[in-house]
Formats: sequence, structure tokens, C-alpha cells
Amino acid sequence: MSEEKSKIERTFVAIKPDGTKRKLVNKVIEKFENLNFDLKGLKLMTVTRELAEKHYGEHKGKPFFDGLVDYIISGPIVAMAWEGNSIIEITRKVVGATDPVKAAPGTIRGDFAISIAENIIHASDSPESSKRELELFFPEGLQG
Ligand code: CMP
Repeated sequence: MSEEKSKIERTFVAIKPDGTKRKLVNKVIEKFENLNFDLKGLKLMTVTRELAEKHYGEHKGKPFFDGLVDYIISGPIVAMAWEGNSIIEITRKVVGATDPVKAAPGTIRGDFAISIAENIIHASDSPESSKRELELFFPEGLQG
């Protein structure tokens, strides 16, 4: 009989300016609470240009970089830290593909996003980016 291994991780999730503007904060949080993940940090904040450029550093030089930075600083975001078993991989599934055309129905982007540039939500794509992004957005540390 195979035994399921527990892999408790933390991930960084941000509801982007279009998500807060469209009053989708409750819908996003509901998904994570339904999965019984634990909230470890949450704040409404306006991202500075400096933080945005660090966060999206891997996209520097791409044609959409300047627009991406301008957009993420254009209004408040909800920055969150969530914890749970295999949460990074599960969150990527719940969030859906970056391009809303490819995002499956039932995912956050599949249900609410219509644009690749304004796609409601960001979630870390690996343990390395999760660590880096949590340190960037929660330098004060997390609960528990
Ligand atoms: P996110 O998960 O926050 O990570 C990088 C972001 O870049 C991505 O979501 C999209 O919002 C944005 N992005 C990726 N590809 C493109 C593109 N071709 N044009 C505009 N924005 C993009």
C-alpha cells in the first residue's frame, strides 16, 4: 500500500489590481479556504516601482515588461502567504494558465480573466520563487 507523503509548503499569492478593482478578493480567498489551506499573511498594499521590478525581474527585457510593471503598481493588490500540503503545485492548478484563453473553466483565470496582461492573480511557480517572493512582500515575516 502506498502512503501519501506530506509536503507542507508556503506560497505567495497576489490578487492583482484588476482583481481588487473587480471585487474578486472574496472569490479568490474562498478557493484557498475551501482547500483548507492556512493563511499566514495578508495585506492590502500598493506596490512600489522598485518592488515591482524586483518581483518581475525574470521578465526584464521582454516586450511586455514595462507594461507589466506599470499595471501592477496601478492600484492596490492583496498580498497573501498561504500554507498547505503541496500548495505550490495545487495553487498553480487552481489559478489556471497565464493566458485566459488556455485557462480551464473552474480555475480563477478561467472563470474571471479575459486578458493575459490583466489576469487577476499571481502565484509562485516553484519553491525557489515562493521563498524569494515571500521575502520580498513580507520582509517583516509571517504568522506561525
Ligand atoms: P504572472 O503570473 O503575474 O507572471 C508574469 C506575468 O506577466 C503574467 O502573470 C502575465 O500577467 C504577464 N504576461 C505574461 N506574458 C505576457 C504577455 N505576452 N503579454 C503581457 N503580459 C504577459
